[in-house]
Amino acid sequence: MNNKKLMAIFSAVSITLMSSNVFAQTFKMAIGDAAGGTQWELATKFSEMMKEKTAGKVKIDLFPNGQLGNEQDTVNDAAIGLLDFSVLAINNVTPFSPTVGVLTMPYLIQSADEAKLLTQGPIGKELTDNTIRDAGVRIIGWAYSGFRVLTNSKRPVKSPADLKGMVIRVPRNEIMIASYQAWGVNPTPMAWSETFTALQQGVVDGQDNPYVTVYAMKFNEVQKYVTNIRYIFSLEPLIISESVFQQQSPNIQKMILDAGKEATAHSFTFLKNTESSIRNDLEKKGMVFVEPANGEKEWIDAIKKNVWPKFYGSIGGKDKFDHVLKALGR
Ligand code: MLT
Repeated sequence: MNNKKLMAIFSAVSITLMSSNVFAQTFKMAIGDAAGGTQWELATKFSEMMKEKTAGKVKIDLFPNGQLGNEQDTVNDAAIGLLDFSVLAINNVTPFSPTVGVLTMPYLIQSADEAKLLTQGPIGKELTDNTIRDAGVRIIGWAYSGFRVLTNSKRPVKSPADLKGMVIRVPRNEIMIASYQAWGVNPTPMAWSETFTALQQGVVDGQDNPYVTVYAMKFNEVQKYVTNIRYIFSLEPLIISESVFQQQSPNIQKMILDAGKEATAHSFTFLKNTESSIRNDLEKKGMVFVEPANGEKEWIDAIKKNVWPKFYGSIGGKDKFDHVLKALGR
């Protein structure tokens, strides 16, 4: 083939690609939980939306169950451009972006609607900007997973005193570690990807996560008792490497942001439609549900006294916390 012909073919191909303004590409997305939970719903919806918006030119390969590393490692990998996307719990972003810790301040968020208000309004926008600055990743969507409840394999727990002698796994998150300390136990910080095995082998006796996560991870096979504490409403962002985002054309960037919003809306509806039936399924599978004593008063009092004041600094100051409380009408 002569040079002229080659040039003609090359420019025809370029024109086709440029006219659609989308180049065929495949991205990798890490997912901390097993398939079937809220993280999976967010991820699959996002990837479907991207496929639809780009007429199949963008494909997203999903890697559930921590296959691409533990959740905290995926933040590092995305920050340096080794990984494109990750869906993980917000508590595993906080070590890299301390101001998002406000979303894991225990007993701050008291309902799914409050979680939506904070993440989708100006406070969520500010936290997203801070996370780009501090962690090199951009939050483009949210999974709403419900309250983190406490599970254990030993006995019914109603009050913090009932935790005495139990080994409880927590994420490597200072606010959550301090919460258990305020309840009188010294918890064991452990990566999410190691938690099922640690529960199964009895290295730890308990942990906390929402019903939907307990179900997706099959924790009912290794845990018996559930205490319905409502200390943290679990929020699980979809993040993209900021360097990968910046490499995309404005057209693709817009599609990514729009798909993230659509997947977020889907996640909210998914939780509303499935949470109580998942709770009932867990009961049918043998889990025993326990309500905290005295309307959770002892749990709440210990946190407000010993945990809130300790973390005002890291989340941006007491004024910032008060501003968030005010946004929630408190
Ligand atoms: C954790 O407990 O580390 C996470 O919240 C688990 C999750 O991502 O679902």
